Amino acid sequence: MGYRVVVAGATGNVGREMLNILAERQFPVDEIAALASRKSIGTEVSFGDKTLKTMDLDTFDFTGWDMALFAVGSEATKKYAPRAAAAGCVVIDNSSLYRYDPDVPLIVPEVNADAIMGYSKKNIIANPNCSTAQMVVALKPLHDRARIKRVVVSTYQSVSGAGKEGIDELWDQTKSVYNPVDDKPAKKFTKQIAFNVIPHIDVFMEDGSTKEEWKMVAETKKIVDPSIKVTATCVRVPVFVGHSEAVNIEFEDHLDEDEARDILREAPGIMVIDKRENGGYVTPVECVGDYATFISRIRQDSTIDNGLNLWCVSDNLRKGAALNAVQIAETLGTRVLKKG
Ligand SMILES: NC(=O)c1ccc[n+]([C@@H]2O[C@H](COP(=O)([O-])OP(=O)(O)OC[C@H]3O[C@@H](n4cnc5c(N)ncnc54)[C@H](OP(=O)(O)O)[C@@H]3O)[C@@H](O)[C@H]2O)c1
Repeated sequence: MGYRVVVAGATGNVGREMLNILAERQFPVDEIAALASRKSIGTEVSFGDKTLKTMDLDTFDFTGWDMALFAVGSEATKKYAPRAAAAGCVVIDNSSLYRYDPDVPLIVPEVNADAIMGYSKKNIIANPNCSTAQMVVALKPLHDRARIKRVVVSTYQSVSGAGKEGIDELWDQTKSVYNPVDDKPAKKFTKQIAFNVIPHIDVFMEDGSTKEEWKMVAETKKIVDPSIKVTATCVRVPVFVGHSEAVNIEFEDHLDEDEARDILREAPGIMVIDKRENGGYVTPVECVGDYATFISRIRQDSTIDNGLNLWCVSDNLRKGAALNAVQIAETLGTRVLKKG
């Protein structure tokens, strides 16, 4: 006996990946429903070798469904997630709406799977921001060994992190650079993204940081340890899929770069590719479609007592969203619902 699973946002970047990953990992599914907005009723989406017809989230009855993986943005989540949760269907949500709610666990299974038991307060579990998810997978095993005091991170985030419209804008604008008659001004992003980088993701906060940067701070504290100080600069780059991060870490205890490399090689969800030669590191195009968070360029920071630098790359639609949500579903299944 398997699960009755709903994927809400099934026509989007993350929803489509959720369906792919549920099928790839042979999640024990008895029945699956693909939902999106009314305009997408009947749109076909793939689930393994099957094709599903998309249904309307607005009129869907969640009664009798075990879990719903949501990837519809905060506004629609606010309207529909409580409806699903009240019907007894556990919501695993990708938006930022519930991440900071003390009654909702925020989970990266390699890091804090035990927090899953907190799901029952609201019947909702939150999935972190894409940049946070890949970073904390790398931070946790190092923190367990040498206690992290402070993290300074700069991100290089792909346009798929901004949904379907983000991908279309980079594609259309890139073509229009070679055909100026067909000008494509910035619409989804605040400045031209083709052949450019933009140091601005999400809205500005009062202190001058952006909400994306604030999310990395708040979510790292909630998932790993509230004592870790984080400062972030989040940048959008003209890459379709795959977020990269340059991470500087200051520890309480000394941690040698070779020991850090060994710890990360053994850590769940991590793949170390770190050769000090041309091409001996991972770039975003190489991580697309993969499950791992790739770590390269591990080296001592000689400007502080106990510091390391590293380069962290992952598929933002997978570990940053859909894969992590499916891993949460797997954890919920094995630890709580126990079907399948
Ligand atoms: N992309 C990432 O790297 C990433 C990472 C972590 C979290 N997330 C979060 O995941 C969510 C989805 O992101 P995405 O990149 O997949 O966006 P997307 O490609 O733009 O897809 C959005 C999906 O939500 C559906 N939707 C939107 N409003 C709806 C409504 N009112 N009722 C029903 N369905 C609605 C859309 O359906 P239609 O096609 O019918 O409009 C579509 O299926 C967002 O909350 C985002 O912040 C994304």
